[in-house]
Amino acid sequence: MKSLVIQKPNQFQMVDKVQPECGADEVVVKVAYAGVCGSDMHILHGNNPFVVYPRISGHEFSGVVAELGNDVSGLAIGDHVVVDPVINCGHCRPCRNGRANSCLNLQVIGVHRDGGFSEYQVVPAGNVYPISNKIPLKQAALVEPYTIAANVFERLRPCDGDSVLIYGSGVIGLTLVQVAKVLGIPSIVVDIVDEKLAVAKQLGAEHVINSKKQDVEAVVMELTGGEGVPLIADAACIPSLVPQILRLAAPAGSICLLGFLSEPSELMQMEVIKKELTIVGSRLNNKMFAKVIPWIESGQLNTEAIVSHEFAFSEFSEAVKQLENSPESTRKVILAF
Ligand SMILES: NC(=O)c1ccc[n+]([C@@H]2O[C@H](COP(=O)([O-])OP(=O)(O)OC[C@H]3O[C@@H](n4cnc5c(N)ncnc54)[C@H](O)[C@@H]3O)[C@@H](O)[C@H]2O)c1
Ligand SMILES: [Zn+2]
Ligand SMILES: [Zn+2]
Repeated sequence: MKSLVIQKPNQFQMVDKVQPECGADEVVVKVAYAGVCGSDMHILHGNNPFVVYPRISGHEFSGVVAELGNDVSGLAIGDHVVVDPVINCGHCRPCRNGRANSCLNLQVIGVHRDGGFSEYQVVPAGNVYPISNKIPLKQAALVEPYTIAANVFERLRPCDGDSVLIYGSGVIGLTLVQVAKVLGIPSIVVDIVDEKLAVAKQLGAEHVINSKKQDVEAVVMELTGGEGVPLIADAACIPSLVPQILRLAAPAGSICLLGFLSEPSELMQMEVIKKELTIVGSRLNNKMFAKVIPWIESGQLNTEAIVSHEFAFSEFSEAVKQLENSPESTRKVILAF
C-alpha cells in the first residue's frame, strides 16, 4: 500500500508499506477520502510539538472497513465508516470527568500516531463510526471539522435566544456558522476577506463584517443595541484580537478560544469581571461524532460548501501548494484515494 510519510520537517514522500495488521480490538480502514487541515501543514513544517517523525499525518478521513479484529462487534467488512481521531485512556482525571479530549494520555490519530494519509490505516474499533451508505464517502470525510464546531457549542453552553459572533470565515468558521444554524443560533461573522464572508452569508450567517473595511465594534454594538454578543467563537485565532473579543462579549457571555499559538494575548480583568464572562478553550472534540453524523445524514449540513479543491492522494504536493499559495481562495482541500 502507498502511504504519505513525513520523514522529517519539510520532507515527505510516498512510500510503499506493508498493510497494517489488525489487533483484537482494532479495525483496518481502506481510506476513501481525507481532508487536509492546517495542522497537517504544521506537522509537515515541524511546527507541531506533539509529533515524532517519521509520521503519516491525516486526522479527517472516511473509508471502508477492510479487516476486523477478533473482539470487534457492531461493524462488518465493507461498512462505510469515519474515524474519530481522539484516543483517550478512559481512566485519568479528565477522562473520569467526561472530558476525553483533555485526556492526560491523549493520542490523536494523525498527530501522535499514524493517520489517514495512507491507503490503509489501523485504528481502535472504539474510534470507528459506521455511516449510512446514503452519505457519500467524500462528505463523510468532513465529519471531523464539524465535530470541532459541535464541541465549541458544547463548551459555550448557549441559552435560549442567544446569538453568536464568529471570528474567521475559514473552514472552522464555516462549520460554526452551519452548526449554529442547526442549533437555531443566529450568527454574525467577522473576516478580512470578502470572498470568505460571502460563503458564510450563503450558509446562513445573519450578518457578515469585513474588519478591514468596517469598524467591527461599532457594527456589532449597533446590531446588539449596545449589549454585545452572548456567545463568541474565535476561529481566526489571532492573539491580538482577544481584547476586542472581550469588549464585544455581552454581560454573562461566553467566549470560546480555539487557537494553538503560544504568543500571549492581553486580557483586561475589568472586562472579564464586570461582565462575569466565561472564557473556555475547545480542543478537537469530545465524543461529538455521534452528534454530527445524524446532522449530515439528515441533510442539515452543507458539507460541499466547505470544500474548495480535490486532488488525488498521489497529488499531495499539489494540495500543499494550493493551501499555501492561495489561502484566500482555498477552503477545505480533500484527497481522493
Ligand atoms: N482548537 C481546535 O480544536 C481547532 C481545530 C481546528 C482548527 N483550529 C484553529 O482554528 C483556526 C482556524 O482554522 P481554519 O482551518 O478555519 O483556518 P482557515 O485558514 O481556513 O481560516 C482562518 C480564517 O481567519 C480569517 N482571518 C485572518 N485574520 C483575521 C482577522 N484579523 N479577523 C477575522 N478573521 C481573520 C482568514 O481570512 C480565514 O478565513 C486555526 O488557528 C486553527 O489552528 C483549532
Ligand atoms: Zn483538522
Ligand atoms: Zn485519560
